Amino acid sequence: EKLNISILDFGAIGDERGMLTICEGEQDIPFIPKRIFYIYRSGADVVRGQHANKVTDFVLINVSGSSKVKIMDGRGNELVYSLSRPNTGIYIPHMVWKEMYDFSADSVLLCLASEHYDPNEYIRDYDEFLQEVEKNDDITSKLLK
Ligand code: TYD
Repeated sequence: EKLNISILDFGAIGDERGMLTICEGEQDIPFIPKRIFYIYRSGADVVRGQHANKVTDFVLINVSGSSKVKIMDGRGNELVYSLSRPNTGIYIPHMVWKEMYDFSADSVLLCLASEHYDPNEYIRDYDEFLQEVEKNDDITSKLLK
Protein backbone atom coordinates (compact mmCIF):
# COMPACT_ATOMS: atom_id res chain seq x y z
CA GLU A 1 0.00 0.00 0.00
CA LYS A 2 1.28 3.44 -0.92
CA LEU A 3 1.42 6.59 1.20
CA ASN A 4 -2.13 7.83 1.13
CA ILE A 5 -1.34 11.56 1.21
CA SER A 6 -2.32 14.07 -1.44
CA ILE A 7 -1.35 17.57 -2.44
CA LEU A 8 -4.35 19.87 -2.75
CA ASP A 9 -4.45 22.94 -4.98
CA PHE A 10 -7.13 25.34 -3.78
CA GLY A 11 -6.60 27.87 -6.54
CA ALA A 12 -7.05 31.57 -5.95
CA ILE A 13 -9.35 34.33 -7.06
CA GLY A 14 -7.43 37.52 -7.56
CA ASP A 15 -8.42 41.03 -8.51
CA GLU A 16 -7.15 44.53 -7.81
CA ARG A 17 -8.13 44.06 -4.15
CA GLY A 18 -5.82 41.09 -3.66
CA MET A 19 -6.11 37.33 -3.52
CA LEU A 20 -8.75 35.01 -2.08
CA THR A 21 -8.32 31.27 -1.54
CA ILE A 22 -11.24 29.08 -0.58
CA CYS A 23 -11.23 25.76 1.21
CA GLU A 24 -14.67 24.15 1.32
CA GLY A 25 -15.20 21.19 3.63
CA GLU A 26 -15.89 17.90 1.80
CA GLN A 27 -15.19 19.65 -1.49
CA ASP A 28 -11.67 21.11 -1.54
CA ILE A 29 -10.61 18.91 1.38
CA PRO A 30 -11.92 15.39 2.19
CA PHE A 31 -13.62 16.33 5.49
CA ILE A 32 -15.43 19.13 7.31
CA PRO A 33 -12.93 20.56 9.84
CA LYS A 34 -13.99 20.33 13.48
CA ARG A 35 -10.80 22.02 14.66
CA ILE A 36 -8.51 24.69 13.28
CA PHE A 37 -5.18 25.64 14.76
CA TYR A 38 -2.06 27.32 13.51
CA ILE A 39 1.61 27.12 14.29
CA TYR A 40 3.74 30.25 14.09
CA ARG A 41 6.93 31.78 15.55
CA SER A 42 8.59 28.37 15.59
CA GLY A 43 12.37 28.69 15.38
CA ALA A 44 14.30 27.53 12.31
CA ASP A 45 15.81 24.59 14.23
CA VAL A 46 12.57 23.38 15.83
CA VAL A 47 10.90 20.08 14.97
CA ARG A 48 7.19 19.92 15.74
CA GLY A 49 4.60 17.24 15.34
CA GLN A 50 6.45 13.97 15.80
CA HIS A 51 3.22 12.10 16.25
CA ALA A 52 0.55 10.11 14.46
CA ASN A 53 -3.17 10.26 15.12
CA LYS A 54 -5.36 7.19 15.43
CA VAL A 55 -8.46 8.86 13.96
CA THR A 56 -7.82 12.47 12.95
CA ASP A 57 -7.05 13.46 9.36
CA PHE A 58 -5.33 16.79 8.69
CA VAL A 59 -4.79 19.33 5.97
CA LEU A 60 -1.74 21.57 6.43
CA ILE A 61 -1.38 24.90 4.62
CA ASN A 62 1.46 27.39 4.97
CA VAL A 63 -0.73 30.47 4.59
CA SER A 64 2.41 32.58 5.13
CA GLY A 65 6.08 31.67 4.79
CA SER A 66 7.27 28.11 4.45
CA SER A 67 8.02 24.89 6.28
CA LYS A 68 8.68 21.26 5.50
CA VAL A 69 6.64 18.29 6.54
CA LYS A 70 8.05 14.78 6.66
CA ILE A 71 5.57 11.95 6.66
CA MET A 72 6.11 8.24 7.28
CA ASP A 73 3.58 5.44 7.05
CA GLY A 74 5.47 2.98 9.25
CA ARG A 75 5.82 0.55 6.34
CA GLY A 76 8.94 2.07 4.84
CA ASN A 77 7.29 4.79 2.77
CA GLU A 78 8.31 8.35 3.56
CA LEU A 79 8.10 11.72 1.89
CA VAL A 80 9.24 15.29 2.54
CA TYR A 81 7.02 18.03 1.20
CA SER A 82 7.83 21.77 1.17
CA LEU A 83 4.84 23.91 1.96
CA SER A 84 5.37 27.41 0.64
CA ARG A 85 2.17 28.53 -1.08
CA PRO A 86 -1.00 29.87 0.56
CA ASN A 87 -3.13 28.02 -1.98
CA THR A 88 -1.54 24.58 -1.61
CA GLY A 89 -2.30 22.09 1.15
CA ILE A 90 -1.15 18.62 2.04
CA TYR A 91 -3.72 16.07 3.15
CA ILE A 92 -2.36 13.75 5.83
CA PRO A 93 -4.70 10.93 6.84
CA HIS A 94 -4.76 9.31 10.28
CA MET A 95 -2.10 6.74 11.16
CA VAL A 96 0.66 8.63 9.36
CA TRP A 97 3.68 9.87 11.34
CA LYS A 98 4.38 13.56 10.71
CA GLU A 99 7.15 16.01 11.57
CA MET A 100 7.19 19.71 10.71
CA TYR A 101 10.45 21.66 10.57
CA ASP A 102 12.48 24.27 8.65
CA PHE A 103 10.01 26.98 9.61
CA SER A 104 10.70 30.36 8.01
CA ALA A 105 10.52 33.36 10.37
CA ASP A 106 7.21 34.38 8.75
CA SER A 107 5.76 30.84 8.71
CA VAL A 108 2.12 30.50 9.67
CA LEU A 109 1.17 26.84 9.31
CA LEU A 110 -2.59 26.45 9.24
CA CYS A 111 -3.84 23.02 10.31
CA LEU A 112 -7.35 21.80 9.60
CA ALA A 113 -8.36 18.73 11.59
CA SER A 114 -11.25 16.34 11.03
CA GLU A 115 -11.79 15.75 14.78
CA HIS A 116 -11.83 17.64 18.06
CA TYR A 117 -8.70 17.48 20.19
CA ASP A 118 -8.29 14.25 22.12
CA PRO A 119 -4.83 13.60 23.56
CA ASN A 120 -5.65 9.87 23.76
CA GLU A 121 -5.71 9.47 19.99
CA TYR A 122 -2.21 10.94 19.62
CA ILE A 123 0.64 8.44 19.31
CA ARG A 124 3.76 10.33 20.38
CA ASP A 125 6.18 7.42 20.50
CA TYR A 126 7.55 6.20 17.14
CA ASP A 127 7.99 2.57 18.26
CA GLU A 128 4.42 2.54 19.56
CA PHE A 129 3.33 3.90 16.15
CA LEU A 130 5.14 1.04 14.36
CA GLN A 131 3.45 -1.48 16.67
CA GLU A 132 0.05 0.07 16.01
CA VAL A 133 0.61 -0.06 12.21
CA GLU A 134 1.59 -3.72 12.48
CA LYS A 135 -1.49 -4.44 14.61
CA ASN A 136 -3.78 -2.73 12.08
CA ASP A 137 -2.15 -4.60 9.17
CA ASP A 138 -2.69 -7.91 11.04
CA ILE A 139 -6.38 -7.11 11.57
CA THR A 140 -6.76 -6.11 7.90
CA SER A 141 -5.09 -9.28 6.60
CA LYS A 142 -7.27 -11.45 8.88
CA LEU A 143 -10.42 -9.68 7.65
CA LEU A 144 -9.35 -10.22 4.03
CA LYS A 145 -8.93 -13.94 4.56
P1 TYD B 1 1.53 19.60 20.16
O1 TYD B 1 0.69 18.44 19.76
O2 TYD B 1 2.86 19.34 20.77
O3 TYD B 1 1.74 20.57 18.90
P2 TYD B 1 2.47 20.23 17.50
O4 TYD B 1 2.22 18.81 17.19
O5 TYD B 1 1.78 21.13 16.56
O6 TYD B 1 3.91 20.56 17.65
O7 TYD B 1 0.65 20.51 21.11
C1 TYD B 1 1.19 21.47 22.01
C2 TYD B 1 0.25 21.62 23.20
O8 TYD B 1 -1.02 22.13 22.78
C3 TYD B 1 -0.01 20.30 23.90
O9 TYD B 1 0.00 20.54 25.29
C4 TYD B 1 -1.39 19.92 23.47
C5 TYD B 1 -2.06 21.24 23.17
N1 TYD B 1 -3.05 21.17 22.08
C6 TYD B 1 -4.41 21.29 22.36
O10 TYD B 1 -4.82 21.45 23.52
N2 TYD B 1 -5.30 21.25 21.33
C7 TYD B 1 -4.90 21.07 20.04
O11 TYD B 1 -5.75 21.03 19.12
C8 TYD B 1 -3.50 20.92 19.75
C9 TYD B 1 -3.00 20.71 18.35
C10 TYD B 1 -2.62 20.98 20.82
